[in-house]
Amino acid sequence: MLNKIKTLREEIASLKASNAEEVEQLRIKYLSKKGAVSLLMNDFRNVPAEDKRAVGQAINELKNFATDHINGLREVLDQQDTEIDGLDLTRSASDINLGTRHPLSLVRQEIISIFSRLGFTVAEGPEIEDDWHVFSSLNFAEDHPARDMQDTFFIQRNPDVLLRTHTSSVQSRVMERTQPPIRIVCPGRVYRNEAISARAHCFFHQVEALYIDKNVSFADLKQTLLYFAREMFDSNTKIRLRPSYFPFTEPSAEMDISCNICGGKGCSFCKHTGWVEILGCGMVDPNVLEACGIDSKVYSGFALGMGVERITNLKYQVKDLRMFSENDVRFLDEFKSAH
Ligand code: DAH
Repeated sequence: MLNKIKTLREEIASLKASNAEEVEQLRIKYLSKKGAVSLLMNDFRNVPAEDKRAVGQAINELKNFATDHINGLREVLDQQDTEIDGLDLTRSASDINLGTRHPLSLVRQEIISIFSRLGFTVAEGPEIEDDWHVFSSLNFAEDHPARDMQDTFFIQRNPDVLLRTHTSSVQSRVMERTQPPIRIVCPGRVYRNEAISARAHCFFHQVEALYIDKNVSFADLKQTLLYFAREMFDSNTKIRLRPSYFPFTEPSAEMDISCNICGGKGCSFCKHTGWVEILGCGMVDPNVLEACGIDSKVYSGFALGMGVERITNLKYQVKDLRMFSENDVRFLDEFKSAH
């Protein structure tokens, strides 16, 4: 009997399997109820009493040995499965790089959300425009220099197919198809024929806001601007309006905010004045309302427009405009925490 056990042990020790199915067959052959090891138990009855102890122990050991060996075969196979083609699927996964929002998108979104809290909704228009929407409807004189090839990109030399130079074109598109009240913000990309440098680019981004209703006054504009400046920068930000000129607004103004870099004390960023210019604005010129089919005797409104790059520079002090369009991931990664 002990010999039989020994032979069986040697047999089991030499077992090999190349897949899970074979391992299972071996388990059935040796370890199931009718398997070779269990069958030894049947012979156990005939073992003389004085040998029972030794034989019993040997059978138990064999059973443990067979279980361990067959389980061992299965583990080796499992291990091999995870290493197919040199892939170690048991390794912990590396971090997924989710990327970041572009700083201009972050700021654009922030501007939109501030205005949306005042009831403004987003309106968009085409980047390839016609003369009417970019210039004529907005009260630009026939000989206004902005119409010049020097400033505007015309497509195929056609004076009526051009890249918009400002998002004010969206104002006239919306006014043409909507009667007041109108309360919109128009974010978008604009193009100008400028030599590219740290301070100028041939494309950049603007957000325009337009509010038209009965009895809209300059006071409404001013309060909107103050709210915007304090939400965008900090709650102590001061604003200052300087008279200016735009064809589509009358009166017109440019808005400065107290320099948020030095707090108004004076630094190189604000050229030691304590103020930085951030946008243009004014009361919509009655000529513009009429050109777009809105009765200027009944309605009035204000408009304002700002450069997204400018606001982003103030918030994040990006020195060179070109950084915004180069998409260097080292630069973009710096805005991860701004999300
Ligand atoms: N369109 C002007 C520009 O591109 C910005 C601007 C100024 C927009 C005054 C306005 C405004 O709506 O009222 O420089």
